[in-house]
Amino acid sequence: MVASSRVLLVLDLALLAAVSCLAGTAAALSTEYYNKRCPSLQPTVRSAVARAVAADPNAGAAVLRLFFHDCFVNGCDASVLLDDGTAPGEKGAGPNANSLRGYEVIDAAKSAVEAACPGAVSCADVLAIAARDAVSLLGGPSWNVRMGRRDARSASRDAANANLPGPGSGLPALVAAFKAKGLSARDMTALSGVHTVGRARCAEFRGRVNANAGEAINATFAAGLRGACPAAGGADGALAPLDPVTPDAFDNGYFRALVERRGLLHSDQELFNGGSQDALVRKYASNGAAFFSDFAKAMVRMGNLAPAPGTPLEVRINCRRPN
Ligand code: HEM
Repeated sequence: MVASSRVLLVLDLALLAAVSCLAGTAAALSTEYYNKRCPSLQPTVRSAVARAVAADPNAGAAVLRLFFHDCFVNGCDASVLLDDGTAPGEKGAGPNANSLRGYEVIDAAKSAVEAACPGAVSCADVLAIAARDAVSLLGGPSWNVRMGRRDARSASRDAANANLPGPGSGLPALVAAFKAKGLSARDMTALSGVHTVGRARCAEFRGRVNANAGEAINATFAAGLRGACPAAGGADGALAPLDPVTPDAFDNGYFRALVERRGLLHSDQELFNGGSQDALVRKYASNGAAFFSDFAKAMVRMGNLAPAPGTPLEVRINCRRPN
């Protein structure tokens, strides 16, 4: 009897530990986390992002992509911001090298936050707030950011290569990549609406605009891009807007472009190519408010992605290296 109640106690403790592990990750985030620790946090980050966006409208897009590439790789832990250390970091991973940018926007925001509240605020939270501010500064929705993330002490190039979907992906692969993170197909489609801002390099859309068999693409749109991005090669770095309708405004122009088969990346057009997301794309194309509402919720869900329990974490002072 004593022995069996001991077993039960051990089981109870194991259950408690498992539950508190879960609670210690995503559930611990709170909109109030810095109310006492750093009351000036949110206006401080917003000013830094506003300055960057005023100087370069594309800075907002850069920050948004940083947030996605952070959260999809071992959770939102600012690992993407780490420079290479003893191990190769995420910055040099296939989807990031010569492509991801905006690191200096987060550096500037974090320096301003450090001046106001030394050692209190994680780089991962600064990035989450900056992403929300980038959206609203470019004309998109706003939402309450949940905070209390901590920063990784190391980054994983392999995990970045494995977890970030590529522009050649078909719809099933896109759905699967988001499902692997606990995000639905609807979240995936709403989040892809970020491609309403920003640019892609010719290397990522050459195949699509140069008459790959089976590409669902508007012929005039493709012809207009072939000059800058020829089939013969070269010009890998030539940029084109992901949203040809309203390139720098955060609106539903991206979805309107998809309906006209003017998605820039193969993966973009996959959201509207006779598959499960067609109806949602049409809805977002005709109803910007529905897109904004789903998008804000999906950003909160993506921001909840947490590092695995047991990952060594800290509040980094400099976002580029562990303390
Ligand atoms: C659904 C799967 C996705 C794929 C396959 C994908 C792929 C890409 C690719 C290939 C580029 C161009 C990069 C370059 O040429 O250098 C790009 C740009 C961008 N992506 Fe995505 N992306 C996806 C989802 C997302 C999500 C969920 C977000 C944010 C929430 C996002 C934000 C951005 C932004 C803002 C840019 C423009 C960056 C700039 O102008 O610097 N993407 N994406």
